[in-house]
Amino acid sequence: MDELDLLFDLHRRNPRQGPGSRAATLRAIELAGLTPDRPLRIADLGCGTGASARVLAEVLDAWVTAVDFGQPFLDELERHARDEGVADRIETVKASIDDLRADDGRFRDGRFDVLWSEGAIYNLGFERGVRDWRRLLKPGGVLVVSEITWTTSSRPDDLQVFWDEVYPEIDLASAKIGVLEQAGYSPIGYFTLPPECWLEGYYRPLEKGFDAFLERHGNSPAARGIVQREHEEIERYRRCGAHYSYGMYIARRLEAPAPR
Ligand SMILES: C[S@@+](CC[C@H](N)C(=O)[O-])C[C@H]1O[C@@H](n2cnc3c(N)ncnc32)[C@H](O)[C@@H]1O
Repeated sequence: MDELDLLFDLHRRNPRQGPGSRAATLRAIELAGLTPDRPLRIADLGCGTGASARVLAEVLDAWVTAVDFGQPFLDELERHARDEGVADRIETVKASIDDLRADDGRFRDGRFDVLWSEGAIYNLGFERGVRDWRRLLKPGGVLVVSEITWTTSSRPDDLQVFWDEVYPEIDLASAKIGVLEQAGYSPIGYFTLPPECWLEGYYRPLEKGFDAFLERHGNSPAARGIVQREHEEIERYRRCGAHYSYGMYIARRLEAPAPR
């Protein structure tokens, strides 16, 4: 099993694959002004096992196109969606969110009223993601995207060095909002995910699965390496989580062409 398959195996069993919560998804729905009064076509990009896609399908009159490159995650999403009675409102698509092709009818220009993406845009980079994805939205459509964000204007040197290496695009919310404005959106809402989205929502279920994961994989060096890295990430958050979080950005696509 290669590293990616091991990661799918570790994360597929958890309620979500990154920080977040049902309450945060509902809060973003409200800030975005989305209501069940009218049918909506929504894309959830980097959906994982569908923590947000299934809420969107449940509370809105929505047809959700849930996209991820992890088939094991999409299989779990479908299973949960069937159990929850929302399977007929979600289509899963195995595709890379950094290569959604306009000549594929499912990703043609202006197909969606709403683009949703929790904890996934860093895989492309925020600026590239919001620019590339914009064409998928109808003019006036809404983008809801969570992005790793500094929550303080200064922070410990070792934390700065770490993030500069793994994701140099990390920045303050004011800078991220500027990126949205430059890319042809008008910001309409913002909040940061509170600690329970990281701890109860994500890290605790993840930690609970470490022993069984190591057992399933014969305590292999690759499996131990993954658990070690996850431990380090959790420890970093426990130590320094006051300085960063996911920001949830809500913005409307402007009618005018995107500035260059
Ligand atoms: C941190 S997880 C978040 C998952 C889910 N949105 C959630 O909040 O639980 C990031 C997700 O993005 C997916 N992903 C990463 N790179 C991708 C790519 N290039 N194309 C499609 N999906 C990708 C991963 O498989 C994973 O499901």
